[in-house]
Amino acid sequence: MIKLLQESGISTAEALAMSPHNIISDIDGLGDKTAKKLIWNARNALGMTEFITADDIDENTEYITTGSSELNRILGGGFQTGKLTEVYGPFKSGKTNLAHTIAVTIQLPKKKGGLGSTVAYIDTENTFSKEKIKRIAKRFGFDPKKVLSQIYHARIYSSDHQIQMIQKAETLCKTRNVRLIVVDSLMALLRAEYVGIGMLARRQAVLNNMIHGLSRVAETYNCAILLTNQVSVSMKGMFSANDAIGGNIVAHGCHFRVMFKTKGFSSNNSLKRRAIIVDAPDLPPEEAEFFITSVGIADTEKGDIPEVQGLDFEVETLYEEESSVEDSEVFDNGNGKHSLIDVKGIGAGTAKNLIKVGVSSVEGLVSSDPEQVASKISGVSSKMVLEWQTNAKALLSA
Ligand SMILES: Nc1ncnc2c1ncn2[C@@H]1O[C@H](COP(=O)(O)OP(=O)(O)OP(=O)(O)O)[C@@H](O)[C@H]1O
Ligand SMILES: [Mg+2]
Repeated sequence: MIKLLQESGISTAEALAMSPHNIISDIDGLGDKTAKKLIWNARNALGMTEFITADDIDENTEYITTGSSELNRILGGGFQTGKLTEVYGPFKSGKTNLAHTIAVTIQLPKKKGGLGSTVAYIDTENTFSKEKIKRIAKRFGFDPKKVLSQIYHARIYSSDHQIQMIQKAETLCKTRNVRLIVVDSLMALLRAEYVGIGMLARRQAVLNNMIHGLSRVAETYNCAILLTNQVSVSMKGMFSANDAIGGNIVAHGCHFRVMFKTKGFSSNNSLKRRAIIVDAPDLPPEEAEFFITSVGIADTEKGDIPEVQGLDFEVETLYEEESSVEDSEVFDNGNGKHSLIDVKGIGAGTAKNLIKVGVSSVEGLVSSDPEQVASKISGVSSKMVLEWQTNAKALLSA
């Protein structure tokens, strides 16, 4: 029986005790009755079948710094453990940057805003960047190698794979001191696999399974969970609204919902972002402004590099890459009619990054391989490059 349960991802008494009956009874080889008996026995063994008085309830919430004191403030002190937090927002609003930042800060000691713990990173969009992690690590005075060795990363290829690795992540909580699970992003694969209204019920069932599993892990291991989510644009009368995808299951399954916005700032030229608490059990609906920097989420445009004595690497070298492309080059149009920043979606920072990887003109952009370009610039996906190419072609033919 233990083997049957383990094969279905139920590897602890807690997992068994907190699983819904149908998930256990659906396991081949276990009937309805056996399932019920197993679950009830597990609950008995764990003392879950008694009421306790409220003064005995454990409230051991801990906080992970996000890198921005403003963002920490509206989150009630930082990214919280024991809960599911959904961060949703449009493309390039900073979701993946937040995921990278807290994957590092959780490793900080408690008095510096971390938990001294490790992280499981479930990457469904292939946007995890070692380089970015190394830079963030340096910002916080960490040995980049050590930080990388404490991030358990899984590249995910299908929604079924995603479920499997979410279950595996639970094992890491038990054996590797994982206290943060990142799923970046929650819906990308589901959205691609379950297309159309006819598939909706099945998609929601899979999603429910994931959310429920993660919720249980959050509680059992007092683990923080970050789920990033995309938005879809819907028309509400005259106005367009950005709604998180995934519907009620995600909305109700997450304890905290935070919206990231690029709007109101020129998202091409500024890396300033806005975060809004959309739903939280005990937080007011506040807003904060933060920045995306090359060293993760921060309060200022340049990130804040703490002065740490005795590091075995040079913190000053952090920005070296940035300055290797001169501002003037960005506006240089070579022999063509347009320069890169004339392309919709490309700001000065992106233009510099493109130049750094050898894409120095609008024509060059059009003829480049999106996958290759994306793989060379952190925070850029092939999807983004494709979009720029479309915009570049439009510009050239205008
Ligand atoms: N090294 C860097 N320095 C400064 N800004 C960067 C750096 N790398 C990426 N960015 C910026 O971060 C933004 C992308 O953020 P991020 O990848 O976190 O977005 P996202 O919300 O995850 O988007 P998506 O929905 O496409 O996954 C871009 O505007 C990009 O210019
Ligand atoms: Mg992302």
